[in-house]
Amino acid sequence: MSDYISGFGNHVATEAVTGALPVGQNSPQHVPFGLYAEQFSGSAFTAPRHDNRRTWFYRLRPSADHPAFDPYTVSNWLSAPMSGPAPSPDRLRWSPLPYPDEAVDFVDSLITYAATGDVATQTGVALHLYAATASMTERALVNADAEMVIVPQAGPLKLITECGVIDIAPLQIAVIPRGLKFRVELPDGRARGYVCENYGQPFRLPDLGPIGANGLANPRDFEAPVAAFEDIDDACDLIQKFQGGFWVTRMDHSPFDVVAWHGNNAPYRYDLRRFNAIGTVSFDHPDPSIFTVLTSPSEHPGTANCDFVIFPPRWMVAEHTFRPPWFHRNIMSEFMGLIEGHYDAKAQGFAPGGVSLHNGMNAHGPDKASYDAAIAADLTPQKYDGTMAFMFETRYVLKPAVQVLNAPHLQPDYDHGWARFEKAKLPK
Ligand SMILES: [Fe+2]
Repeated sequence: MSDYISGFGNHVATEAVTGALPVGQNSPQHVPFGLYAEQFSGSAFTAPRHDNRRTWFYRLRPSADHPAFDPYTVSNWLSAPMSGPAPSPDRLRWSPLPYPDEAVDFVDSLITYAATGDVATQTGVALHLYAATASMTERALVNADAEMVIVPQAGPLKLITECGVIDIAPLQIAVIPRGLKFRVELPDGRARGYVCENYGQPFRLPDLGPIGANGLANPRDFEAPVAAFEDIDDACDLIQKFQGGFWVTRMDHSPFDVVAWHGNNAPYRYDLRRFNAIGTVSFDHPDPSIFTVLTSPSEHPGTANCDFVIFPPRWMVAEHTFRPPWFHRNIMSEFMGLIEGHYDAKAQGFAPGGVSLHNGMNAHGPDKASYDAAIAADLTPQKYDGTMAFMFETRYVLKPAVQVLNAPHLQPDYDHGWARFEKAKLPK
């Protein structure tokens, strides 16, 4: 039996105990087994039907059953708007984030690289890395500020959520809705990866336009967990992120006590290897938006609060064409990471677990070595394989965090990759 239910944004119904789910009614006077009915809304009640997200939980105790919160400190997880000087127009790149020597769990290991927008107005994103060496034990996290996209780069993760359990490993992602409680366990003892905190509208599948009904990320490849719960009456610290601050309340039971649920506001996972990459079969190549997996729209159509874009293995067949990404300057700001392999616009320096940041209108593109190789290449069909780069791209300018601008893994010589281009020779 599968532990997942396939389909993006579907209204699903799942129960871990037969008969726990009320039939034909959301909130009956008497819920089976004395469970508590609780609605979990991810959109305004009156959002249009295609944007409306809500789930009904049936749980051992209501979520409201917890003491008052106390302030809590998480050192390196920052929120927008961040303090510090205005961002420079410099292009930035970091080497892979090192693991800590001590035992640090997912929450305490998160380090913010860049952020934009404002948690209070629900615009923008924050982008982080984690390098964790311990599972979360006797504590859980609930993020009221953002939906969270988790992109593992090394090591699997087991995500215990209110809706059930999600297992992911590198080349898979998981998305946790705003306000859903979860815990991160490390089956291999340590793990590293990327996190996008999306303050804006929830991620959804992009429209396909002339591509048609199929292609890119197909809806059936997104998987929500089946209901699973803990019946544990031991202490658990629930850490809440709220308006950029952190708070903790000590519960006397597990918060993962949802026995049954139905709805469409649920966590999900997606395997990036299932992405149907589409590209040119003649000349030039489409804009990188052709690789959009998920999009968080802003109020301006086609101008995303955030797009999640991948650069997967694919055939390169364009004739008389410069095949790598061209030189460009964009209105959008680009935060890039690498899960495995190489990225075709960079010969060296962009390693798995590393990050590059090209903000709005920063000039960038292939480095000199990649450029020289591309213009000399024999343009036979070529499989670009063993790679998975990705980009979180936003309409807002990203502000890098001071803590990573001063970090030893910031590469001081990133600009050098674009030095030494020879001047074009006009006819005399
Ligand atoms: Fe770019």
